[in-house]
Amino acid sequence: MNTDITIALPKGRLADKTINALEKCGIDCGPLKEDTRKLVLTDRSKQFKFVFVKPSDVPTYIERGAADIGIAGKDTLLEMGADVYEVADLGFGKCKMCVAGFEKRPEKVTGGNLRVATKYENIAKQYYESKGINVDIIKLNGSVELGPIVGLSDVIVDIVESGKTLKANGLAVLEEICDLTARLIVNKISLKLKAQTICPLIKKITEVIGK
Ligand code: PRP
Repeated sequence: MNTDITIALPKGRLADKTINALEKCGIDCGPLKEDTRKLVLTDRSKQFKFVFVKPSDVPTYIERGAADIGIAGKDTLLEMGADVYEVADLGFGKCKMCVAGFEKRPEKVTGGNLRVATKYENIAKQYYESKGINVDIIKLNGSVELGPIVGLSDVIVDIVESGKTLKANGLAVLEEICDLTARLIVNKISLKLKAQTICPLIKKITEVIGK
């Protein structure tokens, strides 16, 4: 039986918390803390292979079986709608999906539809559709807060964690869309073929860090 498990880990804001969480579960993450540009690492027991990927790519690696399990933000899962099993809410990486903009300025400063800048096109689209509001979605890949500041958009839809980025740019939360946390996701076929290794691992992670 194949016991080799590949784990997709998100770079960026969830990285340290993810490594700490795996360590709490008894997985030797020493090699992950070394200062290296390597994208593939293994634990010392060689039971686990880790791949470091852009957070928004984690669901793709899992859906296509390039990794067996992964840690992804709920924001990414909602946006991607990947065909994976979401098996645990890990509780860390807490933030909110929000509509933000200038607090003391009317949201709509142009004649047409409300212009919404966001990295999360699908989430924004679904949110405004549910409210019956026509919007013009402007897809950006980062520094979304610039949208209202430079007049590119009326508002933004983005994640807010500490709120510092909004505050530093004179913006405020106007509406809260949903709460977000990190989730443990699993490839559907891996869960069957590698059940003997993956199931105890999921159980352990859920017991130690799951909500
Ligand atoms: C995210 C998000 C906000 C910021 C929110 O961006 O898009 O800009 O973090 O965090 P805060 O509420 O703690 O300030 P990220 O840091 O991922 O960078 P990006 O803008 O380049 O995507």
